[in-house]
Amino acid sequence: LTPQTLQGKKVLVSAGPTWEPFDPVRFITNPSSGKMGFALAAEAARRGASVDLVTGPTTLPDPAGLTTHRITTARDMERVVRTLAEEAHLVIMAAAVSDYRPEEAAPHKIKKDDEELTIRLVRNPDILAGLGKNKKPGQILVGFAAETEHLVRNATEKLQRKNLDLIVANDLTQPGAGFRSDTNVVKVLDRFGGVEELPCLSKEEIARRLLDRIESLGAR
Ligand code: C5P
Repeated sequence: LTPQTLQGKKVLVSAGPTWEPFDPVRFITNPSSGKMGFALAAEAARRGASVDLVTGPTTLPDPAGLTTHRITTARDMERVVRTLAEEAHLVIMAAAVSDYRPEEAAPHKIKKDDEELTIRLVRNPDILAGLGKNKKPGQILVGFAAETEHLVRNATEKLQRKNLDLIVANDLTQPGAGFRSDTNVVKVLDRFGGVEELPCLSKEEIARRLLDRIESLGAR
């Protein structure tokens, strides 16, 4: 049996992509599968935490022993995450939130013609940055950073700007890393300048190591 090291803790995890529609059958998204966030939520539940998982559209089934909230857009995710974060000891934002959404969503399917179609995009709220601004005393905030260049520099900048305790940086150029894969290659950066490099591991194993690391932060 897994030691109940997170007993009595409320943990909030976000996962998956968001869908940003511009008509009822078309939307902007990214290839996130939700696997990393689902693995983290399931592992936290195994350790005895009370877990809320907020996920965008994925084909993964609801994990056992926790509450899954299914949303579609970034703005839906923001609403649910904001409310649940009020009570959470630990928030892990593993979702690949769309940075932009179409300015307008047509109520009916857009008819094609021979002309070009222009979709104007506007910025979505940065959910994690919002949580960082309103961080509760003692709350631990963990983010992800998917990068294709200057991995450590970009991740460090996000850690500081979003007021995080840890950031998990994946280098999307590495084989076995990032979106959709069953494995990931990550570096874990903390607020004190510490950088831990993990080898290529399953997302389940990364979830265990990350939660071990987070538990050790709590004791600091
Ligand atoms: O700035 P960037 O999108 O690379 O930051 C990634 C981190 O911020 C992830 O933890 C992601 O879940 C979160 N994020 C968010 N809202 C956004 C964009 C990213 O919470 N609109």
